[in-house]
Parts: sequence; structure tokens; C-alpha cells
Amino acid sequence: MQQTFILFKPDCVQRRLMGKVMSRFEDKGLNFVAMKMLQITPELAQQHYAEHVEKSWYPTLEQFITGGPVVAAVLEGLDAIRVVREMLGATSGLQASAGTIRGDFSASRQMNLVHGSDGPEAAAREIALYFTAAELCAHEPTITPWLRAADE
Ligand code: TYD
Ligand code: MG
Repeated sequence: MQQTFILFKPDCVQRRLMGKVMSRFEDKGLNFVAMKMLQITPELAQQHYAEHVEKSWYPTLEQFITGGPVVAAVLEGLDAIRVVREMLGATSGLQASAGTIRGDFSASRQMNLVHGSDGPEAAAREIALYFTAAELCAHEPTITPWLRAADE
């Protein structure tokens, strides 16, 4: 079982797409174990996007990500990190395949609706950046026996 961090970005909140996108993750069988709405500060943006702070496009990314409320969440499931990244699609909504979240709902490289951790180290770092251990509500959904075989 793996946990991954996702962020419904300001465009997703403003465009009222959160419900649709959440449904996709729930329909897939992923389990929400934490969620909160917040306003990202420039300081938090710089920590979240530490690997991109020196990029020429970072200032506009920071302006965008701090430009409205976001919803941070933790999803749990088998291979959750890879599965969520594949559900998101390529970074740019113009490149992302149809059927992915970005491919279906975004026509932008920056306003691509949802962030997802790109590996185990990033997932651990990002979950800790937004949530305390006590805020993670891990639980076993009663429907689990109908989502996958016991030995998977
Ligand atoms: P990146 O980590 O490359 O993409 P991903 O979210 O798919 O892991 O970039 C982080 C975010 O930065 C990306 O979701 C959108 C934004 N971004 C820009 O604003 N301009 C750019 O040229 C790129 C590559 C990304
Ligand atoms: Mg990335």
C-alpha cells in the first residue's frame, strides 16, 4: 500500500472541477486519507516547488499557485504514486492524452489542475509539508474485498 500527495490547484477550485476530479480517483479505487483547503504562501510554494525555484518560469508558477485557495490531499492505494501520475497525464494539458485529467480538462502547461508526487521521496516530503501524522486518517474501506483480490 502506498500513499501519494495531490494538490487541487487554484484553477481546479475556481473552475469547480474538484468534484469531477475527486470522483475519478474514488472511481479508480483510491482512498482519500487526508484533505484540507488552504491558501499557499510564497514561502510554502518555494518549499513545495524547491526543485523549480531557479527556473525562469518559477515566478509565474508562484503567482499562480498562491493566487487562490487550493485543496491538499493524500491518496492511498496499490502503486498510488504511479497510478495517480498516469491519471494526471503529461505536464501540459496540450500534450496530455485524452482520457487523463489534464488531457480532458486542461489546455495549459501551467494551469494543469492537479499536482501529484513524482516518486516515493517526493511523496513523503510533500505529505509532511502539508500534513501532520495525526491528520492522516488511514482506514480500510469496507468495499475493499470488491476492489481487488486479497493477494494483490
Ligand atoms: P513539473 O514538475 O515539470 O511538472 P509536473 O507537475 O507534471 O510534475 O513542473 C511543475 C509545475 O510547474 C507544472 O505542473 C506546471 C508548472 N510549469 C510551468 O508553469 N511552466 C513550465 O514551463 C513547466 C515545465 C512547468
Ligand atoms: Mg514535477
